[in-house]
Formats: sequence, structure tokens, C-alpha cells
Amino acid sequence: MQFRSTAARSGISVALLLCLGLVSSCAGPGRPFTKSMTLGGKKVSARTLNRGRYSYITHCQACHGMEGDGKGPAGYALRPPPRNFKQGKFKFAAVAAGQLPNDEDLFRIVKYGLHGTAMIPWDEVPDRDLLDIIQYIKTLSPRWLDSTPGTPIVPSPDPWGDARRAEAVTRGMKVYHGLAQCLLCHPAYAPAEDVNAASLELSKREAPLRPDAFHGALKESDYGVKLMPPDFTRDHIRSGEKLPDLYRTIASGIGGTAMPAWKGALPEDDIWAMAYYVRSLIELKGTPQADARREALIASHAAPVGTKAASTSAEALVPAAASTAGTTAN
Ligand code: HEC
Ligand code: HEC
Repeated sequence: MQFRSTAARSGISVALLLCLGLVSSCAGPGRPFTKSMTLGGKKVSARTLNRGRYSYITHCQACHGMEGDGKGPAGYALRPPPRNFKQGKFKFAAVAAGQLPNDEDLFRIVKYGLHGTAMIPWDEVPDRDLLDIIQYIKTLSPRWLDSTPGTPIVPSPDPWGDARRAEAVTRGMKVYHGLAQCLLCHPAYAPAEDVNAASLELSKREAPLRPDAFHGALKESDYGVKLMPPDFTRDHIRSGEKLPDLYRTIASGIGGTAMPAWKGALPEDDIWAMAYYVRSLIELKGTPQADARREALIASHAAPVGTKAASTSAEALVPAAASTAGTTAN
């Protein structure tokens, strides 16, 4: 669901005014913090936590709820739903999926928001207040009392660079379809024979397409809702579309969802190549080319092998960046 930031902010100001008039009901559950706490292995003062709670009530509880359970009045029926902080689970941190995020992750997510969701950028709130809120959120789940954040996944230097962009996209296309199994959840963007060829080359095995392979496949999650893995040629990317953002997402996976972490499981060159490939698909978003590609792929899959549609030129289906430099998908 789209949420215009102005609408969100004015809604929240109303909530704040109500709070000012009804301080007792807005003071939140529990008493003020009187002692420091160790959260994620770090000592946090009572003063920080009290300030954090105040700012949380002002800016965040409308969706995330007074108790942090994701059931705030403005969060009702939002899809994706606001995070329930009692779970202590997070999606977009630069740590292996499932581990607790570092403060840098929480700060980035809160400050810049999650594009295409109700979680708008909170960049007008002073950084200091955001940092206090981040500490306060940790008091809402017991996970922070007995676990520490994961080791940060730092991007390795980009081994491709602009000069080898087309090569990276071609390699990424093969890894995406033939090795990393991205297309088990996300759409395939190449005809069946190219997917199979990539799989034979990189994994030494046949890879038949799943039914409805040119659309995402709905997946279970830990967040009480099923999630549709995005089609990069038409859906929003939430946590950043730049190459280093895509590297981070692919290397770290997405916590609490089916999407696994790839750091360590694939060579760095291949993780970066997939970032380039996904980036090339994102660049097609909103163009008539994107829809034409999808329709051609669906037609090629539906048609019996050997017909004209089935042998659709793979080159036409590879993003422009890969074909302009004279490289092909095969
Ligand atoms: C208008 C509703 C709304 C408000 C207000 C809001 N959020 Fe969110 N928030 C969401 C939604 C929706 C999601 C889930 C996005 C998703 O799952 O992709 C979310 C997710 C999050 C996450 C989880 C990110 C992750 O990687 O899993 C954090 C942390 C977060 N919000 C913090 C905050 C903080 C801090 C504030 C106040 C400064 C705030 N939110 C205010 C709607 C809101
Ligand atoms: C087992 C299923 C699964 C596999 C395999 C998978 N993903 Fe995902 N992916 C998901 C789901 C589910 C989401 C959406 C999460 C959500 O809605 O919060 C997602 C989201 C994404 C996003 C968007 C992140 C954002 O910021 O919005 C990117 C980029 C992505 N996947 C890339 C890949 C790549 C590249 C591969 C292969 C290396 C891959 N995924 C493999 C399930 C999967």
C-alpha cells in the first residue's frame, strides 16, 4: 500500500495532539525506566530509554502500537503490516538473515524508510531522537536481552565496475537462473531453454521451470502474512535500488522470510553480478519493454517446443545493457 508522507505526518500530528491532551493514556505501558539496561550486548542508560519511548510514542506508535505489537490505530489492515517489535525479527539488516540488526541498520531503515510501504522515511526527525527510539524498540523484545547483533555484512569492492557492466549483467542473468535459484520465488526473466542452459553450465543439471514461472510465487513468512517476492520489472524495491543496496539485500537475505543469505555461499563476483542483473531489470520498470518481455516469455512457455514462439530470441529478452555490448545471454 502506498502512503503519502504528508498524509502520514498529519495523521501522526493528530495523534500527538491527542496525546498532549491525554498524557496519562499516552504514557505507554509500564513505568519510566529507572535503571540502565543491557540490550544486544550494549549498555543503554535509563535517560536514553525514556527519551526514546517519548519519541516512539510521538512518531511510531500510530502504526507499531503502544505495546510495539504492530497493532497501532493507523496500522490496521496495512500490507505489509507494521513490524511487531515483540518478535524481535527484522527484514532488511546487513547481517545474515535472522540475526539481530546493528544500530546502523535500524538507523538506515528508519531514516530512509521502506519504499512502497507505509514505513515512510523519518528523515525530518532529528538523528539523535531516532537513535534513542532505536534503543527503546529493543526493550520490547526479550531477544535483545540474551542475543547480540550479527556481524555486519560489508560489501566487498565491486569487481565489475561500469566498464564491465554488460559482462556483469550477463553473468548475473546466468547465476540468477542457473545457480542461485532466485527463480524459485521471483519470476524467471529468460525463456525455458536459456534457464536450462544456464543451469547445465553452472550447476550441471536440468532445471525445468516451475508452473507460472514468469510471476513470483507466494511464500510463507514469520510475520503472519504470506509475501510475494517482487517482480523487479514492476514492483517496488523497499530497501534501496542502488548497486550496493542490492548487494546488501542479496548477500544478507531477508530476515523472517524465505529469502536466504548468499554471503559465503557464492563467490563475491557472482553476488555482485546478480546485483547488476537485478539493477538492469529495475531499469526496465515502467517501460513498455518490461510488459512486452513478460508477455513474450509467457507466450514462449505456453507454446509447444519447436514453434516460433518457443524459440523466441533470447537476445531480445536480455536487458539492453547486456546486448548493447555485443554479449549474449548464452
Ligand atoms: C504509517 C505507519 C508507520 C509508522 C508511523 C512507522 N512505521 Fe515502521 N513500519 C511500517 C510498516 C508497514 C513496516 C513493515 C515494512 C515491511 O515489512 O516491509 C514497518 C517496519 C519497520 C521496521 C522493520 C524494518 C525491518 O527491516 O524489518 C522498523 C525498525 C520500523 N518500522 C521502525 C519504525 C520507527 C522507529 C518509526 C517511528 C519513527 C516507525 N517505524 C513508524 C509502518 C510504519
Ligand atoms: C525462497 C524464496 C526466495 C528466494 C530463493 C529468493 N528470494 Fe528474493 N525475496 C523473497 C521474498 C519473499 C521477498 C520479499 C520480502 C518482503 O516482501 O518483505 C524477496 C525480496 C527480494 C528483493 C527486494 C528487497 C527489497 O529491498 O525490497 C530482492 C532485490 C531480491 N529478493 C533478490 C533476490 C535474488 C537476487 C535472489 C537469488 C539470489 C533471491 N532474491 C532469491 C524470496 C526469495
